[in-house]
Amino acid sequence: MRDSQQAADLLTWYDRHARVLPWRVSPSDLRSGVVPDPYRVWLSEIMLQQTTVAAVKKYYERFTYLWPTVGDLAAAGDADVMGEWAGLGYYARARNLLKCARVVVHDYDGRFPDTCKELLKLPGIGPYTASAISSIAFDQAETVVDGNVERVISRLFNIRTPLPASKPEITKIAQTFTPSARPGDYAQAIMDLGATICTPKSPTCGICPWRSPCQAHDLGTQAELPLKTRK
Ligand code: ADE
Repeated sequence: MRDSQQAADLLTWYDRHARVLPWRVSPSDLRSGVVPDPYRVWLSEIMLQQTTVAAVKKYYERFTYLWPTVGDLAAAGDADVMGEWAGLGYYARARNLLKCARVVVHDYDGRFPDTCKELLKLPGIGPYTASAISSIAFDQAETVVDGNVERVISRLFNIRTPLPASKPEITKIAQTFTPSARPGDYAQAIMDLGATICTPKSPTCGICPWRSPCQAHDLGTQAELPLKTRK
């Protein structure tokens, strides 16, 4: 961790301003000993792969109502699951969701593995989702880099190399920032910062917990960043 004060500042902000999301265990509940359910973390992260938080909410509620455990989902009929997924899009996700639930039940005794290395062996789980599950569900110090994190880090360091060429540099910086304490909260905090304050348009720098170390804010370049190579 390059600057533990900076991670601490973000976590303090998250303690106060974390979004309330149906799959999320709040920082205060975590502190009182509530343990995240890896099945729910996994389900939410698969749904969130190519879909917005707003669109995922009601699907997540419906799935966890119909299939509260990975065993329930593994035993569900293919057509039922595909039917409930209808409207969310990217249907390969739903097919892999069922495959993954069945592998977890049959090969892992119904328990999701806790490391990125093992999670990556499961259907539908790539590097981003493996990091998100291992940090959020199992508090492993893994780094999550999504579009929100790319924007936050690009601005923090005024990175002028356009995406996607800047991705390795951003990932490296994000890794050095990931704290060993509360990495799951940290992953969700940086996503929330990108989603609510360090937004693509009109970021609200005045209330940002990372305003003072932010190079883009200092230089007034936040509206331009991140630069992107035209597809
Ligand atoms: N997008 C992807 N994963 C997320 C999470 N755990 N919380 C909020 N937004 C997300």
